[in-house]
Amino acid sequence: MSRPEHTGPPELFYNEDEATKYTCNSRIIEIQEKMTERAVEMLALPPDQPAFLLDVGCGSGLSGEWLTAEGHHWIGVDISEHMLNVAKEREVEGEVCLGDAGEGMFFRPGVFDGVVSISALQWLCNADKKDHRPAQRLHHFFTTLYSCMARGSKAVFQFYPENPSQMELITSQAMRAGFTGGVVVDYPHSTKAKKYYLCLFCGTPARMPSALDGASGQGQEGGVQYTTERERIRKRKGDRTPLKSRDWIVRKKERSRRQGKEVRRDTKYTGRKRAPKF
Ligand SMILES: C[S@@+](CC[C@H](N)C(=O)[O-])C[C@H]1O[C@@H](n2cnc3c(N)ncnc32)[C@H](O)[C@@H]1O
Repeated sequence: MSRPEHTGPPELFYNEDEATKYTCNSRIIEIQEKMTERAVEMLALPPDQPAFLLDVGCGSGLSGEWLTAEGHHWIGVDISEHMLNVAKEREVEGEVCLGDAGEGMFFRPGVFDGVVSISALQWLCNADKKDHRPAQRLHHFFTTLYSCMARGSKAVFQFYPENPSQMELITSQAMRAGFTGGVVVDYPHSTKAKKYYLCLFCGTPARMPSALDGASGQGQEGGVQYTTERERIRKRKGDRTPLKSRDWIVRKKERSRRQGKEVRRDTKYTGRKRAPKF
């Protein structure tokens, strides 16, 4: 199958049609959710504390919805206006903004507790315009990303490298920008389930998460074991506030008030199930 990044620039590939198709595909939703779960697990955030996260290439907010469900606040950046329009239509909780990662991440220094990026990084390896130099764009991206992350925080990118030299290009630019870390390959022996995660540490070096392995589902020797962390997340998933429930709506409204937005007051009707319109 040809790679979407070979067909043209991301802002053209993810047009109105593609953005809608992408967001309605239940298989895509499931896969993006699983990969976001794994990326968040690798961030190893302090338990039961909401974090402030950046989602690079947030698209229509599939990855972001997982962050919300896990109780985190997030900002998403994406180059496709159409993907962001779908995110807004779906009323995702995070703030989404239009931006090209290759042009840099311009946020306040040290503001993010962690960064995730799902299925977006490989796009930066292509030169879509005459003046695009992938190595320079990656370097600029990683340098500016480093500065907006809190020291000691992590960034996890699930990505689809096309070949070993792309992987080398990405990791070398990340290291040049000051990060430590490397690539974790989950299910390395399965063609279908194999997934690449670039795990970067900002400031303080940390132990690399161990890869999941198809046969046992356990980590390889020597790495940090995240199995109990996965169980914790699964348990918490059971307790999470259901989307569009009264509690969920009240929380969302409180957040908007804190942001200075005009919001209707809460009443006994807030979040009430409405009769279908005929
Ligand atoms: C496969 S989608 C993934 C979207 C989302 N992370 C999810 O989990 O569903 C890849 C996204 O990366 C975005 N993207 C590609 N290149 C980008 C760039 N240079 N800057 C910002 N976003 C980019 C695309 O527009 C697209 O929305």
